[in-house]
Amino acid sequence: MSVNRKPACQRSSPELPAAALYVSPSLGRLWKKVHLACSPFLLRKAVRRLYQRPAIPLRKYLSTPYSLIALGCADGTKEAFLLKKLPRPAYVFAADTNLSLARRAADCLPAQQRGFLKIDLARPLPALRLPPSTSHLFTLFGVLPNLDPLPLLRRIAHRMSHADLLLFSANLAPGRSGFAGARKVLAQYDNPPTRRWLGAAIQAYRPKLPKGRLHFGVHPDPRQKSLARIEARWITPMQNLIVFSSRRPTTAQVETWIQSARLRSLSRFLDPRGEEGVWLVRPAAT
Ligand SMILES: C[S@@+](CC[C@H](N)C(=O)[O-])C[C@H]1O[C@@H](n2cnc3c(N)ncnc32)[C@H](O)[C@@H]1O
Repeated sequence: MSVNRKPACQRSSPELPAAALYVSPSLGRLWKKVHLACSPFLLRKAVRRLYQRPAIPLRKYLSTPYSLIALGCADGTKEAFLLKKLPRPAYVFAADTNLSLARRAADCLPAQQRGFLKIDLARPLPALRLPPSTSHLFTLFGVLPNLDPLPLLRRIAHRMSHADLLLFSANLAPGRSGFAGARKVLAQYDNPPTRRWLGAAIQAYRPKLPKGRLHFGVHPDPRQKSLARIEARWITPMQNLIVFSSRRPTTAQVETWIQSARLRSLSRFLDPRGEEGVWLVRPAAT
């Protein structure tokens, strides 16, 4: 897994691929500790509800039998919570860069049949062997902040047929200004469990990285300057390396991505504090 180097015109600091933070079972366990300590999904009922409220429109739009394709699902906690309010899928497919987490998700999600796969969402989606007679519900929870969002939505849209649905979440910047909003939630990232997880990823990375210190801040996304990105940078005497980034768009920015990916929004659900949102979309009619 090599450091991403961008064309000189876009270059700020080199960047570790997001998958490098999750790739091994031990990094998966450290991420889970961060999740248990800091996740708004676990800490706030209003955020948890964002993952069950879409069941109402989903029951309307989803044709059954259906397959659930859980992208970047980790251990499938959010999908399991959603499925409590939906008919049981005929088939569940759990896909993550961390195979042990994907296997755990496939084991715990209710379905007549299940499968799991190591996937790289930074690349075109592989052809999935799914029962042909089902419609597909894709989920993408907590992934959009870590990967380049518009190309990722486009790759997923490319794999969707007309009757398919995508339910995805975005971590939002609360308030009117993306940058001020992102600064308000910085403490959700700059804390001891997150430092332990990122520190372990830095230690595990090959080729070995020089000694340095972690610094958290808010920066413009190198590909979309108006988009606020929380970054953890590994500061060394030689260079600064971005080890973690989390985009915090405004709702308007998310809706522009939806349109640009040729998707159509069916419903959206927003956290009352404006820190998270969930969108139900389908391919736009051509
Ligand atoms: C922030 S976690 C979110 C996990 C879970 N969906 C949730 O919302 O709690 C990001 C997830 O995306 C996965 N991931 C990160 N980069 C990936 C990539 N390039 N391809 C596939 N999965 C990736 C990680 O392994 C991890 O499970």
